[in-house]
Amino acid sequence: MLRIVVCVSGGGTNLQAILDAMESGRITNTEVLAVISNNAGAGALERAKAHGIQGMVISPRQYEHREAFNEAFTEKMCALAPDLIVLAGFLVRIPPRMVHLFADRIINIHPALIPSFCGAGYYGLKVHEKVLERGVKVTGATVHFVNEGMDEGPIISQKAVGVEEGDTPEILQRRVMEQAEWVLLPAAVDDIANGRIAVAEGRVRRLGGS
Ligand code: GRF
Repeated sequence: MLRIVVCVSGGGTNLQAILDAMESGRITNTEVLAVISNNAGAGALERAKAHGIQGMVISPRQYEHREAFNEAFTEKMCALAPDLIVLAGFLVRIPPRMVHLFADRIINIHPALIPSFCGAGYYGLKVHEKVLERGVKVTGATVHFVNEGMDEGPIISQKAVGVEEGDTPEILQRRVMEQAEWVLLPAAVDDIANGRIAVAEGRVRRLGGS
């Protein structure tokens, strides 16, 4: 059984996609231990509660300095002792010690085709604003392992989504979520829960053929 903790900051549609996939059997062999948010008002916490999953709030704003937050967040995560940490729209930098302690056991969903439109300042709607500004014809989403960089860890999966005439950032974000994020993230959790993914020399390999 893969025991996961999901970290969220916003509405929680990616968390919901995971919960729906667990209910429908598209994700097996997985248990959500807790949902952690830096935002007490996050809709994602309501979604967790509706599924009887414990929600926790921890934010850098609760601490005098970042190092104290990093230590408290890392200790809380170690106490939960998940097999996998899933960042689902989580907007807080993962403490370096947590990255080290959970090496190759933290995954993130990014709403663009890494290495495009990623790194510092590229999150949420801003990603899609930059995509439209640049005029690219194809965007998408990426699931990757988290390392000490930002959006730089080994890529697990990607899915392309077409940019259409008249797209606004909001319309494009919704299409990328519906057609890519909500498909890729549950599939990645299920692949990891069922031993279909391995990381070697910074590359993700799929095991068992599929
Ligand atoms: C969205 O911008 C999504 O593209 C990105 O995180 C933000 C919030 O997602 N992955 P969620 O609805 O909170 O899962």
